[in-house]
Amino acid sequence: MAAGATTMGAAPGDRGEAAPAPLDRVIPAPASVEPGGSPYRITERTRIRVGDSRAAREAGDYLADVLRPSTGYRLPVTGDGGGGTGKDGGGGDIRLRLVKSPHGGAGGAEGYRLDSGRSGLTITAARPAGLFHGVQTLRQLLPAAVEKDSVQPGPWLVAGGTIEDAPRYGWRGAMLDVSRHFFTVGQVERYIDQLALYKINKLHLHLSDDQGWRIAVDSWPRLTTYGGSTEVGGGPGGFYTKADYRRIVRYAASRHLEVVPEIDMPGHTNAALASYAELNCDGVAPPLYTGTAVGFSSLCVGKEITYDFVDDVVRELAALTPGRYLHIGGDEAHSTPHDDFVTFMKRVQPIVARYGKTVIGWHQLTGADPAKGALAQYWGLDGTGPAEKERVAEAARNGTGLILSPADRAYLDMKYDANTPLGLSWAGHVDVRRSYDWDPDAHLPGVPASAVRGVEAPLWTETLENSGHLEYMAFPRLPGIAELGWSPAATHDWDGYRSRLAAQAPRWDALGMDYYRSPQVPWPAGGGGGGPDVFCAGWGGGGGGATCRVWTSINFCYSHLNI
Ligand code: ACM
Repeated sequence: MAAGATTMGAAPGDRGEAAPAPLDRVIPAPASVEPGGSPYRITERTRIRVGDSRAAREAGDYLADVLRPSTGYRLPVTGDGGGGTGKDGGGGDIRLRLVKSPHGGAGGAEGYRLDSGRSGLTITAARPAGLFHGVQTLRQLLPAAVEKDSVQPGPWLVAGGTIEDAPRYGWRGAMLDVSRHFFTVGQVERYIDQLALYKINKLHLHLSDDQGWRIAVDSWPRLTTYGGSTEVGGGPGGFYTKADYRRIVRYAASRHLEVVPEIDMPGHTNAALASYAELNCDGVAPPLYTGTAVGFSSLCVGKEITYDFVDDVVRELAALTPGRYLHIGGDEAHSTPHDDFVTFMKRVQPIVARYGKTVIGWHQLTGADPAKGALAQYWGLDGTGPAEKERVAEAARNGTGLILSPADRAYLDMKYDANTPLGLSWAGHVDVRRSYDWDPDAHLPGVPASAVRGVEAPLWTETLENSGHLEYMAFPRLPGIAELGWSPAATHDWDGYRSRLAAQAPRWDALGMDYYRSPQVPWPAGGGGGGPDVFCAGWGGGGGGATCRVWTSINFCYSHLNI
């Protein structure tokens, strides 16, 4: 049994207890925080009251799953959620309330309101996603030890007051490249859980590239049986069956993330071209590719079979996709003549629409004719030429929505500095401050703010092979991109942010996550994180040790990539 406090309503300090975390020590920063009043305390008598809404029950079950192992409390999820707020008459319980016409920050598709006080804690939202995001905020307000999977002493206090919160942008994405290295369903689910902590709501999966095709397409089976059989460095690769993929989509939906699948074309298609000779203009299949060059492959724009292929792939993928968007790539098509690129996009965008999906493409799509309603994902750098930036801005002024993923800010696979043992550096080094300190609305000159639909943090995996690698590159930068996507611009403040970021580290330690202990962040003493020791001990795939497989693998990447 936990040794935590059991007296409902006892104040912090009554037994020399530490004060709860301040109500604004949350990432992403909430839109509005009004601290005040006594703290709320979870005890062995606490119930999670959810009314008769199925969605509130799901959020309640999720919360109970987080809280039970570490508190050791029963925390029954019960139907009685009616009446009162957390501040008056909550009876010491946690209430999750879905209401039709909330006031304050509980409005909108993802907003919520959190009221915390001596007599209860209530999260109110208009929609299930809002309740879920409110639950993530509650998690961060509790001590980091709440994330552990064994009983901890507590106490489990939440500061008193009210948070009203809603996102700045509707698109707060993270992209995972499962092509350069394949990641299992379990590894993707682990990443989804980490994204959900920071209110990310889109998981963009880069499902095909030169090095591997990762999603089963029944009408073109060699795409996976052959095209999925390797990866960068020559490992065994892998692919998702349709059942696997549905599992990822369901898991993401349970964390209120929408999966955005990407089939990159007409370039980045060597795995497809290797699988089917007839897709090549010369009718000859190239060998599988396990290197890291880009820009050498292209579908054959002049052949009709290309569009039969795209139609089949898009039809089958759209049928697996409950979300609105299908990403068609379009980047680095250096082997596709420009006129062919324009022709290709003219033919392919209507195919996406025919199967009920909205096009998203990398920003090179703006060099063709983006379909009405299409989104373009900008991945340029500060040094990208003005003509290319203006082309994107002009498309935005003409109605193309933009997702901002500037590579020298938001690419999580860029090295933090010259000593970072993983990642690439073609967009420069991206330290934690650089990834946080920019404004999506103002980033591209000539773009109306109304065209900016949000932000996304891509994680390319040429050098990344396992969950530890993903975490070391994503953390601590991912929370900064999440905050740019969620929090009002007025909350933006590097000094305040980096101390909130530092407070996340014990949570990552408790969750067994890796991360880079950037010298820009005032981390609390102790804890884990990605020093070289942890590198080897944590990433060796069991066993670890100084002569671990990981160093071999990284050395391999270095020599292989010539970086
Ligand atoms: C990209 O980084 N080629 C989108």
